Amino acid sequence: MQPIVEVKNLKKSYKKRKTKEYITAVNDISFTVNKGEILGLLGPNGAGKTTTIKMICGLVKPDSGSISINGIDNQSKRLQAQEHISAVLEGNRNLYWRLTVRENLEYFAGNRGKSRKEVSTQIDDLLEQFNLKNKEKEMVNRLSRGMQQKLAIAVALLAGSEVILLDEPTLGLDIETGYEVRELLREIVRTQKKTIIITSHDMDVIQDLCERTVIINSGKIVTNDYVENLMKLFDVRAYSIKLDGHLSEEQHHLLLEKFPQLVYTPDTYQSVLEVDLTQSQEMYDLFDILKLEQIPVDTIDRKTVNFEQVFMKIVKGESEDAIPERA
Ligand SMILES: Nc1ncnc2c1ncn2[C@@H]1O[C@H](COP(=O)(O)OP(=O)(O)OP(=O)(O)O)[C@@H](O)[C@H]1O
Ligand SMILES: [Mg+2]
Repeated sequence: MQPIVEVKNLKKSYKKRKTKEYITAVNDISFTVNKGEILGLLGPNGAGKTTTIKMICGLVKPDSGSISINGIDNQSKRLQAQEHISAVLEGNRNLYWRLTVRENLEYFAGNRGKSRKEVSTQIDDLLEQFNLKNKEKEMVNRLSRGMQQKLAIAVALLAGSEVILLDEPTLGLDIETGYEVRELLREIVRTQKKTIIITSHDMDVIQDLCERTVIINSGKIVTNDYVENLMKLFDVRAYSIKLDGHLSEEQHHLLLEKFPQLVYTPDTYQSVLEVDLTQSQEMYDLFDILKLEQIPVDTIDRKTVNFEQVFMKIVKGESEDAIPERA
């Protein structure tokens, strides 16, 4: 696959105004994004995500390192490289607050050399798709935050760039609007061949939209891998078995002898056994004991990991050695 964004050995420090000391925001980051790929850029607060996004879209100059977009160097040929990128940054700074919804779309399309006439139907379609048709004559400062966010994404789409950068697209939105934005992004991913780099603290959004994630912490990459691989890496064979009634002390001992890691939570009516089974054969052994002892089983559930738990484990460095870095 062909990389469209190539980030090599990026470094960026900021000077603190008061103390004059330097903070390293991004410390030697390299990764590539292939054409048509949706990459999640993740990390805890202050990890360096926004700084990285701003360097890619040319708003912040790196101290060292290089970025190329479609093979064009982002520093020596900045304007040319920027033609391939649209960014939606935190706080919707890519909108004019004193222009209406439609005027914003027209203005930014004009910036990319497109006439009002040329984009008129496209704007109508976008307003329809983003559910903003009834707000087209409203000034941006009168829109709700969710509407502004949707408009900012629409503006980025209208520019027609191949690469779209989205910094926290669902931040601060209520559940319903957050979900709507997620659906819109999913639709874009499905129907348009865009390359997207997205940062988010919402792991459902990431799991839903991204194939691969680059996880950074303290300005350094800790993981660069496919979501699917990371999920497999942290997959657990943990089961929770609900019993009708409770175990006798002998039965509890008997189970513990065979499964030392077993956790038993007794209750008068319904007790719970939690057990991590490394091999599926062990399930039979467990059930042999339960059957022999005539212990009534109510339900069996397999615990599954979600991407949020996987992310937390990676960021806490629980498995630093276990995670290979893939391209
Ligand atoms: N303009 C600036 N001046 C000084 N320090 C800055 C500036 N912008 C960012 N930083 C510092 O750089 C580091 C990385 O910040 P950045 O905004 O890139 O993190 P982030 O991963 O986007 O965090 P968040 O999840 O909170 O958005 C932080 O320590 C931050 O305080
Ligand atoms: Mg940020």
